[in-house]
Amino acid sequence: MIEKRKLGKQGPELTTVGFGAWAAGGPWHFGWGPQDDSESMAAIHRAIELGVNWIDTAAVYGWGHSEEVVGKALEGISRDEVYVATKCGRVKGDGDVPEGDLRPESIRRQLEASLRNLRMDTVDLYQIHWPDTTTGTPIEESWAAMARLQDEGKVRWIGVSNFDVSLMERCEAIRHVDSLQPPYSLLRREIEAEILPWCLHNGTGVVCYSPMQAGILSGSFSLDRVAPDDWRRRNPIYQEPALSRNLAFVERLRPIAARYGKTVGQLAVAWVLANPAVTSAIVGARRPAQVEQNVGAMGWTLSDDILKEIDEAYAATA
Ligand SMILES: NC(=O)c1ccc[n+]([C@@H]2O[C@H](COP(=O)([O-])OP(=O)(O)OC[C@H]3O[C@@H](n4cnc5c(N)ncnc54)[C@H](OP(=O)(O)O)[C@@H]3O)[C@@H](O)[C@H]2O)c1
Repeated sequence: MIEKRKLGKQGPELTTVGFGAWAAGGPWHFGWGPQDDSESMAAIHRAIELGVNWIDTAAVYGWGHSEEVVGKALEGISRDEVYVATKCGRVKGDGDVPEGDLRPESIRRQLEASLRNLRMDTVDLYQIHWPDTTTGTPIEESWAAMARLQDEGKVRWIGVSNFDVSLMERCEAIRHVDSLQPPYSLLRREIEAEILPWCLHNGTGVVCYSPMQAGILSGSFSLDRVAPDDWRRRNPIYQEPALSRNLAFVERLRPIAARYGKTVGQLAVAWVLANPAVTSAIVGARRPAQVEQNVGAMGWTLSDDILKEIDEAYAATA
């Protein structure tokens, strides 16, 4: 079932599941190991066929490669059918490691490169990927540059990612923050205290990333299928002792999901969507079969009883 929500007070109607194109970037410092471009494109096409109306990518994903794959996949597909979101602010530092750059002239250059990669004249949602702790550019200067790009029609809506309330307040004073892209999943709930209420109050849409905690909550995660150069090999969530605890939680979720004919992954995505501040969950997929499962989270409203059961399962393994 296709379900859409409006992105904040003045954004587009987005499907509650968006397609996440991080893995489509292929191998790089924060890559997911080898990824076949034709599989990525088939996954994007399947998502669109099944009604998903937006794709999230970023310039940094494979140093433009994810954007190129998205651009190629969308050739010949009407821009009325699918919104494209990308991000700026992470540039190549020493070696393959990204660093911050939100200087106004750099943001403009980054957007021009993204438009070339995407083979498009406009980006629907342009987001600042991370605060800039490298060049020390005041956020007011960066956000004013984003607002200028919006005035010029090069981007339709502007948003931020990984920002806290104080940074969003400083942006909002200059131009409305159309969206926030924060991490949010059953295993990462920090944004519930201050950030989500701020977004709700200010009419800022929320598009959550890693709703299945980068696959661990999919219900079929195993470290065996994670490539040696996959970034997850270096993240504590996928190492002991956290790994066993997280997988024990998944096992407790499995019968709850099964009772409704759903997978644990669908339950994890539906849980994120149960928060009234959330517009959409960005779900990453590497192949069409994953997309087919993931879209099954759309339109599943979790009752208070299920939410309580999930909380009890969480408490039992925390
Ligand atoms: N703004 C930011 O800083 C930021 C950070 C992270 C992500 N994001 C965005 O959010 C998107 C989603 O986040 P995410 O990709 O980290 O995490 P996610 O959606 O929680 O998990 C996606 C991963 O789970 C696995 N998976 C997907 N569907 C599955 C299924 N049906 N069954 C089993 N495994 C499945 C795939 O990896 P395997 O098959 O390899 O396990 C896939 O790459 C990204 O693509 C990106 O667009 C943004």
